[in-house]
Amino acid sequence: MSGSLNPSSLARLLGEWNLGAAPAYRELADVVRLLVLDGRVPLEVALPSERALAATLGISRTTVTAAYSLLREQGFLSSGQGSRGRTGIPQASPRGSSGGADLSGAPGLAVPDGILDLAYASLPASGEVVHRAFASALTELPALLPGFGYDALGVNALREAIADHYAAAGVPTTAQQILVTSGAQHALNIVLRTLAGRSDKVMVEHPSYPNAIDAIRAAGCRLVPVAMPAAHPDARSGARPGWDLEAIEMALMQQRPVMAYVVPDFHNPTGRLMPDSQRRRLVRAAAAAGTVLVVDETLRELNLDGVASSPLAAFSPAVVSLGSLSKSHWAGLRTGWIRADESLIQRFAAARTTMDLGGPVVEQLAAAHLVGALTEPLPPRLASLRDNRDALLDLIASRLPGWQSERPVGGLSVWCRLPAPISTALAVVAPEFGIRLAAGPRFGTGGAFEHHLRVPFTLPPEQLETAVRALRSAQDRLEASPQLRRNLGTPPAAAIA
Ligand SMILES: Cc1ncc(COP(=O)(O)O)c(C=O)c1O
Repeated sequence: MSGSLNPSSLARLLGEWNLGAAPAYRELADVVRLLVLDGRVPLEVALPSERALAATLGISRTTVTAAYSLLREQGFLSSGQGSRGRTGIPQASPRGSSGGADLSGAPGLAVPDGILDLAYASLPASGEVVHRAFASALTELPALLPGFGYDALGVNALREAIADHYAAAGVPTTAQQILVTSGAQHALNIVLRTLAGRSDKVMVEHPSYPNAIDAIRAAGCRLVPVAMPAAHPDARSGARPGWDLEAIEMALMQQRPVMAYVVPDFHNPTGRLMPDSQRRRLVRAAAAAGTVLVVDETLRELNLDGVASSPLAAFSPAVVSLGSLSKSHWAGLRTGWIRADESLIQRFAAARTTMDLGGPVVEQLAAAHLVGALTEPLPPRLASLRDNRDALLDLIASRLPGWQSERPVGGLSVWCRLPAPISTALAVVAPEFGIRLAAGPRFGTGGAFEHHLRVPFTLPPEQLETAVRALRSAQDRLEASPQLRRNLGTPPAAAIA
């Protein structure tokens, strides 16, 4: 990644950063750090020169110089001698002899030393199973070496294993209805490129998965967000708020989006499961509106409470389903898929070749073994997730007064309602307390969800306890400084359209 950010773009992203709660240089550095951490300022872009940014923001050059030095000290800006400093994230530990970042133990990308990463809802690999699958794949590889190695649809053994998996779940499927992708995010981009043009409307749940929102936006589409009902205050005790089907039906009929992107299986971030009765209504409403229903089933295997449901494709052959091994096995496999009718799959394959020409063969051979025994690594994984979830819910209830948490029936995170609109502010100050957060507005449009925070339960209970203690300290810091809370709580102007 390279490029540079011009002063007016950075000023727009910064929004109202300077409201006097701390020295100006510190506030400027805090907000730039948040923008880098949550991806609104990409890595390795050159920030504006000190002189240009000072002039654009109407502040002294000394303030910008001090903010940039602080960012350099914290590892968020390269030293950039003789040239402009580039954005980055701190190394996890001092550089080894290879000079590369040490990513060991990091659930996501490299994170600052000792910081607990609550921005990623992801797990380490179910190691042994994955390792065994690769060992088998290597023995099978020679048979494929005489071929060209290009296949936009995917290796047959894997397509067949995925088709069998759907058939076993009650959705008869042939291998011709499967296209293998490099994960569900790649799958969504292929679907968007095929089915949605610039300015087309795409319905999403609100909140929804941030990277999906970003992909839809990047495709030039217009988001049609439909609010998920608020959790009942006693949601911890088992009330299930579900989806607002009336609102979805109305949005579909009135807005006629070309596509609707939904996550009915342990929705990210709420962890909700759509009941079959609502699935039936959803499919009917999409058909009536001429909307293609794109269903992201990435989290479907993380069924913590064993509540039964049928895959959405069981209700209509027109559904496009996206799947992934990222949550059941490991995100590092970068293996996912699309299930759709055969003619659509051919169109997806054609669109895919504008981005890449197929997936790596060994990974696909290994994935065929993993999909063939998909549930094998799940029991211990689900057992520890249940423990983590229960520990987190208890910690939130006892240590974070005023927070309302909804008990998720699956997935990897708890969607919390905060006592005040402080989500962005919490994300800004969080690293000082040893945690990294994804601010609530990342899960929505128009700056919504300042009152919400997604807290993953991917860490073990001891680390969750440390994390909740840090959340409490961060909240106390904001409460002690109402001005800081107000200022940082203003979502940067250009963050979400
Ligand atoms: C709902 C949802 N979709 C897609 C993804 C990304 O999946 P992949 O790693 O297969 O691209 C995630 C990861 O968190 C997710 O939660």
